[in-house]
Amino acid sequence: MNKVLILGAGGVGRVVLHKCTQYPETFQEITFASRTKSKCDAIVADVKNYPKPIRTEKVDADSVPELVALIRDVQPDLVIHVALPYQDLAIMDACLETGVHYLDTANYEHPDLAKFEYGPQWAYQEKFEKAGLLALLGAGFDPGMTNVYTAYARKHHFDRMDTVDIIDCNAGDHGYPFATNFNPEINIREVSAKGRYYENGQWIETEPLSVKKTFDFPGGIGPKEMYLLYHEEMESLVRFYPEVKRMRFWMTFGQSYLTHLKVLENVGMTRIDPVLFEGKEIIPLQFLKFLLPDPASLGPRTVGKTCIGCWIHGVKDGRERTYYVYNICDHQECFKEVGAQAVSYTTGVPAALAAKMILTKTWSGKGVFNMEQFDPDPFMNEIGPFGLPWVETFPAGQEF
Ligand SMILES: NC(=O)c1ccc[n+]([C@@H]2O[C@H](COP(=O)([O-])OP(=O)(O)OC[C@H]3O[C@@H](n4cnc5c(N)ncnc54)[C@H](OP(=O)(O)O)[C@@H]3O)[C@@H](O)[C@H]2O)c1
Repeated sequence: MNKVLILGAGGVGRVVLHKCTQYPETFQEITFASRTKSKCDAIVADVKNYPKPIRTEKVDADSVPELVALIRDVQPDLVIHVALPYQDLAIMDACLETGVHYLDTANYEHPDLAKFEYGPQWAYQEKFEKAGLLALLGAGFDPGMTNVYTAYARKHHFDRMDTVDIIDCNAGDHGYPFATNFNPEINIREVSAKGRYYENGQWIETEPLSVKKTFDFPGGIGPKEMYLLYHEEMESLVRFYPEVKRMRFWMTFGQSYLTHLKVLENVGMTRIDPVLFEGKEIIPLQFLKFLLPDPASLGPRTVGKTCIGCWIHGVKDGRERTYYVYNICDHQECFKEVGAQAVSYTTGVPAALAAKMILTKTWSGKGVFNMEQFDPDPFMNEIGPFGLPWVETFPAGQEF
């Protein structure tokens, strides 16, 4: 009996739950838990055609004892963590204590430091190995799908990869002057941090959003400006593909988003340190999150598409070649299927398929893994029918 415990009833949690219920032969029993139980109940109420009742629970995923008690009671084979990156280590500890496999979609972040690194989670390698358990890190789209795209490219199309550019475009429009497509706190921390890319064995830092390029996106999206950011999958990709000479990550932003962000930064609203307000400590970014539209509420009003992929240059059979692999996802189609917009959808679908890979033992191992360490073929074969079809092209003579 395959049982899963899904943690986090946000936009991504909604998608993961829906996707798991579409494959009841793999996900035979599901418990859905989060900080606010009513949010789990509301999402479960939208599920159709799952043959068993879905249990919902309240849990504080920052508390290892609470998690351990819940896991002992539910006895899942796998915990799918789609709450927030702050909880990664607590949930990994609880999985170790209870002997359960672990999966997440974002690397650990300390609440007081906007720092994105796998180090604290890679440090669990020996513990998971000794316990005979698997922890799969970063199993969303980016990180996640982009790691699998890179592994697939290396396996089938390159003898050597020289440059990898990960390109993330959200050409969706939610109609608000400013809103974020996933958790505002996590999103703004990521975007307002310094940029960083990898070249010839070194990380080169850039000022936030100071490097930009125009890229002509496929799927009818057309040319968009995109900005160089640091993104966590680069850390694992340069570790597992040390041959790569340059790796960068790009994300598109509209002018309205950037102007609002600049103003919010300038007035101190994106600060993550506590400030004293009328005798009470508040964290400006958390207060801003409270004021902004809930990303889960953007679904019905978001139109347009996302396009995320990898542009890779290297050598195959002695000849240079360029390879571009990507997915196009339509916000409204996602909403029709699972009641969420494409940013949540593109994260939740790879997470659910990665969970299926673990439960069916298609992917197995002891220790802490990133997605590119497993055979990409079964994942690439299934991800299209699972909801995220991909396209590959070999753009001739095009420099990135
Ligand atoms: N790899 C990728 O491609 C990718 C892309 C986007 C997002 N992500 C990651 O996906 C995860 C979920 O994102 P999202 O957009 O769904 O965020 P979200 O809408 O903010 O949802 C997070 C959920 O976690 C719950 N939660 C927060 N703290 C908790 C705690 N201590 N205990 C229990 N539950 C807690 C929240 O509960 P309340 O509702 O009660 O606050 C909320 O339901 C994040 O880690 C994000 O970084 C990854």
